[in-house]
Amino acid sequence: MRLFVALSISPAVRETFSVLLTELHCADPKTRWIHPANLHVTLKFIGNVAAEKLPSIEQALTTITVLRPFDLEFRGLGFFPNERRPAVIWAGIVAPPELAALATRIDEAVSTCGIARETRPFAPHLTLARFKEPRPAEALRAQSAQSKDRFFAQQSVGEFQLMESRLKSGGAEYTTLRAFPFLA
Ligand code: 2AM
Repeated sequence: MRLFVALSISPAVRETFSVLLTELHCADPKTRWIHPANLHVTLKFIGNVAAEKLPSIEQALTTITVLRPFDLEFRGLGFFPNERRPAVIWAGIVAPPELAALATRIDEAVSTCGIARETRPFAPHLTLARFKEPRPAEALRAQSAQSKDRFFAQQSVGEFQLMESRLKSGGAEYTTLRAFPFLA
């Protein structure tokens, strides 16, 4: 099974991005934009693991405690790895240090189950589209340049989730396997 750990976005944030995705689709109709229902903030991509490993991964994640909920602010558009040859367009996330600390704790916890540690620093973001050829339309580059610091939404976060991704012909389908409330 293909697993990852994520934060879910609130209904209000999803609605805001649903409107934004319609706007971005107009700027670049050839790009396959993420369906609003599939938007999430990835904390750790675990990848393919044998189903027998699931209980130990869940157990490792239950050891994580976060002392209080914290706020996320979604702000600005940008590209990975760079604007010249982008593979992904994202909305940026401004968060207190608790967010990166949580991502590190998750990385450490699942590494005890044989999952490779991250080598790159955590860069919180909300992926809006992944580009294949053709590369993004000029109108999209212009729009993202204008939206570099644009405020989109904010929400409080009180749990993280273990997710399964099933790759289907119409795109990935995500299922929440288990939620881990911060104060449990
Ligand atoms: P991102 O695109 O939001 O950065 C589920 O596949 C999630 O895991 C994706 O949304 C993606 O996060 C993240 N991910 C990180 N590395 C990945 C990889 N090598 N293959 C697929 N997904 C990956």
